[in-house]
Amino acid sequence: MKRILSIIMILTLLFSLACANAEGGSHILVAYFSATNNTEGVAQQLAEGLGADIYEIVPEIPYTDEDLNYSDSATRSSIEMDDPSARPAIAGELPDLSQYDVIFLGYPIWWGEAPRIMSTFVEGLDLSGKTVAPFCTSGSSPFGSSDSALKEAAPDATWMEGQRFSGGASAEDILAWANGLGLVL
Ligand SMILES: Cc1cc2nc3c(=O)[nH]c(=O)nc-3n(C[C@H](O)[C@H](O)[C@H](O)COP(=O)(O)O)c2cc1C
Repeated sequence: MKRILSIIMILTLLFSLACANAEGGSHILVAYFSATNNTEGVAQQLAEGLGADIYEIVPEIPYTDEDLNYSDSATRSSIEMDDPSARPAIAGELPDLSQYDVIFLGYPIWWGEAPRIMSTFVEGLDLSGKTVAPFCTSGSSPFGSSDSALKEAAPDATWMEGQRFSGGASAEDILAWANGLGLVL
């Protein structure tokens, strides 16, 4: 009898493992915003290397070249970054995070900070219980405290130390960082 019960338990376990596999889907999401494709390149290499799902944060109103002209204080990006309460709208649905426990969050540095649309994103989700690993690209600025407003908006997530990449970062460097975080990936 004991043997039969053991066999049934093993079969049940194998069946549930097979079902989990058949459902597919990663437990890792790479979510990113990129205005001029640098962060997108890093995000894509990260997602490919980890076999993660990817979600692009697309602004409802796209940024034009003029919007991104940081030499002019009257442009859209300057006005938004001057106003900590600015929340540019995101096009489409936010992702359903239920299947993910690790979220890589990528953005370009704008005036030392994450663009305000990243706050729209984080405030629109429930990140509690999730592990968030932020990364950025920049001309030269370090990661610094660019994620501080994001952390404040999601205090119940576990935030990993962020990493800055140059626009042309190699897959090797990007994955070395991700794999060095000590997460189950
Ligand atoms: C509005 C704006 C502000 C920026 N501010 C900074 C900055 O403070 N420090 C820096 O090193 N680069 C800055 N940059 C350069 C971007 O961070 C860099 O080009 C980044 O890789 C762009 O990423 P993306 O192509 O994914 O949008 C800024 C760019 C823009 C458009």
